[in-house]
Amino acid sequence: MVETALNHRTIRNYKSDPVDEDILRVILTAGTRASTTGNMQVYSIVVTSDPSLKERLWEVHFRQNMVKQAPLVLTFCADFNRFNTWCRMRKADPGYDNFLSFMTAAIDALLAAQNCALAAEEYGLGICYLGTTLYNAEKIVEILELPNAVVPVTTLVMGYPAENPGLTDRLPVQAVLHREKYRNYSERDIDSLYAEKESLELTAKLLEENQLETLAQVFTEKRYTRKDNVAFSQKILEVIERQGFMNNRKE
Ligand SMILES: Cc1cc2nc3c(=O)[nH]c(=O)nc-3n(C[C@H](O)[C@H](O)[C@H](O)COP(=O)(O)O)c2cc1C
Repeated sequence: MVETALNHRTIRNYKSDPVDEDILRVILTAGTRASTTGNMQVYSIVVTSDPSLKERLWEVHFRQNMVKQAPLVLTFCADFNRFNTWCRMRKADPGYDNFLSFMTAAIDALLAAQNCALAAEEYGLGICYLGTTLYNAEKIVEILELPNAVVPVTTLVMGYPAENPGLTDRLPVQAVLHREKYRNYSERDIDSLYAEKESLELTAKLLEENQLETLAQVFTEKRYTRKDNVAFSQKILEVIERQGFMNNRKE
């Protein structure tokens, strides 16, 4: 399992070979064995393989090719719907229509997703997370017919790889590690921690392509701009509210 984690690479090109149902079942079971808040399992996994539904998802995932190419699209949802229904059926009054409950359910969903990702990779499958899930959550709610108290938080496309990319770079472990307490970064620390990333050939290529001076500017001016972040923040907050997770007033 550690070997699998150390060899993880995102796959963006897939063969059309289907994934055996038995293998999928084990992957999903591994997902359900993830730690879960209070053992409530407040998440759901929607597995989409129908080509016409996948085409609709492809459209809202910014037309990223792998959504159509990979045989499986797994949408992980923060889900209190099932738990609330159970509570109501058992004479219990659920107080889970608030933001904390959304965070709880979102964390549960993400933990299940990463367990599924690692299990899939153990079976030689490839995966790619889709951040576009949050950008167009309202359309995913519509396509997958998600009821109240259900919000999609991430998506995994899954299938057999048709490429074998190299490992991508990471910051050294010391960049993310703080022993005992948080130790803030000096400018010298930042220079040293980002030195390798900034000297990659890929970085030079990105700067050339985008006609920018620094790699950080590629993030702030091209990939994840303030304007987009604010627009998508407003959209996702509306979805969280519409799906019934924003009743934060004291009684
Ligand atoms: C939450 C999340 C959302 C992501 N969204 C996308 C995406 O929409 N499209 C894509 O091609 N890759 C996406 N990725 C993959 C990252 O780009 C990838 O993990 C990162 O570049 C590191 O590469 P590696 O996974 O091959 O090590 C996403 C990853 C995460 C964790």
